[in-house]
Amino acid sequence: MAEELRMSLPEIRREMPAVDRWVYMNTGTTGPLPLRAIRTMENQSQTEAEQGRIDPEVHRKAAELKEELRKRWAEMVGAAPTSIALTHNTTEGVGLALAGLEWNEDDEVITTNLEHSGVIMPLHLLSQRRGVRVRFVDLGTGEVDMIAALERALTPRTRMIAFSHVSYRTGAVLPMEQAAAWAREKGVWTLVDGAQGVGALPLRLSGTGVDFYAMPGQKWLCGPEGCGALYVAEDRLDEVNPTLVGWAGLRRMGPWPEVVYHPDARKFEVSSASVPLFAGMLASLQFVEEVGREPVYRRTRRLAGLFRSRLREMAGVRVVTPEDHAGLVTFEVDGQSPEAVLERLRSRGVLMRTIPGSPWVRASLGFFNSEDEIDRAVAAIGP
Ligand SMILES: Cc1ncc(COP(=O)(O)O)c(C=O)c1O
Repeated sequence: MAEELRMSLPEIRREMPAVDRWVYMNTGTTGPLPLRAIRTMENQSQTEAEQGRIDPEVHRKAAELKEELRKRWAEMVGAAPTSIALTHNTTEGVGLALAGLEWNEDDEVITTNLEHSGVIMPLHLLSQRRGVRVRFVDLGTGEVDMIAALERALTPRTRMIAFSHVSYRTGAVLPMEQAAAWAREKGVWTLVDGAQGVGALPLRLSGTGVDFYAMPGQKWLCGPEGCGALYVAEDRLDEVNPTLVGWAGLRRMGPWPEVVYHPDARKFEVSSASVPLFAGMLASLQFVEEVGREPVYRRTRRLAGLFRSRLREMAGVRVVTPEDHAGLVTFEVDGQSPEAVLERLRSRGVLMRTIPGSPWVRASLGFFNSEDEIDRAVAAIGP
C-alpha cells in the first residue's frame, strides 16, 4: 500500500540516494536530502558566483525566494505567511519566543519530563537570568493525561506552558490543541517545540490557541541544516518583542529614535542569510508537497505503527512508544545496551539512534521507507 503518494516509491527513493545506502531510520535527527535540494543549492551558488551577488537582478530574486519560502512554510503549518519568521533551527525559535516576553521574577513555566535540550536549555537560561521558575510535569512516556497534570501544576504565577508536539524521547504525540485551549482559557502562553511534529503530522496552527510553534527544516521536511521557522500566532504578534534586531525586521527608520518594525513575524528576523540554503529548503518543501502532504502523513504513521506492532511481537523487546505516535518508535532490548543494539544495526545497514540517559533506541519511519525495510530492521534487532 502506498497511501496514494503522488510519486512512486522508486521515484522518491531515487531522489534520496542516502535511503539506498542505508535502511534510513533516523529522520528524527536529520532526514535524507533530496537531490533536487542539492542541485538547487548548487545552482543558486553558481548564479551568485557568475552573476555576482550584488547584481540587482540576483538580489531581487533572492528577496522573492525568501518570501516564497515563507509562504511555503505557512502552507505547511496552516497559517498566514505573516505569522512565519524564518530562523535557522528549532532551538532558535524557542529562544526567540522566550526572550520576546517580559518576565517577572518568580513567574512560572510548566514543561514536561519529555523535552529535548532545545526547550530545556532556553528554559534554564530564562530561570538563571530572569529568576523564572520551571515546573516539570511527569507524563510518563506520554500516556499520562496531560491536561490533568497541567491542572495540578497550575499556580497563580504560571505564565506559560512549553512542551513538544511529539516527544523526541518516546515518540508520544502530546495533545497540543487541547493543552493550548486550556492555556488560553487560563491566560497562559503556549510554546510548542515542533521539531518532531512538522512534516510528520498534519498541522493547522492558525486559530488553535498555540502561540509559538518552533520548527526545523532538516528533519521530517528533509531540508538542509540551517533553515527553520517560528510560527507566532497573529493575535500575539504585538505582544512579543524582537530579541536580536536588524534590517530584515525593519519597516522604516526615521530620525532617531524612530525605528518601526514590520508589523508581522518578519520583525523577529535579523539580517543577511544564506540564499542557497533558502533555495535548498524551498526545494525540499516543494518535494514534500509534490509527494503529497496528506499521503506523507498517513504513510509515516502507518509505517511507524507497523514497525511498532512488529516490535511488540518480539520476545525480549519492550516498546516504549505509546499508542498515539507519529513517525518515531522507541524501544529497548533486554540485557543489551542501546549502544550495542545501535552498533549491530549499523553493521547490518540500519541507521537509528539512542536516547541519552536511557536504555532506549529510537527509530524514525519516513514516507520514503518501505515495508521490506521494516523486515530488515526487525531482523537486525534480533540476535
Ligand atoms: C524535540 C526536539 N527539539 C529540538 C530539537 C533541536 O532541533 P534544532 O537542531 O532544529 O534546533 C530536536 C532535534 O534535534 C528535537 O528532537
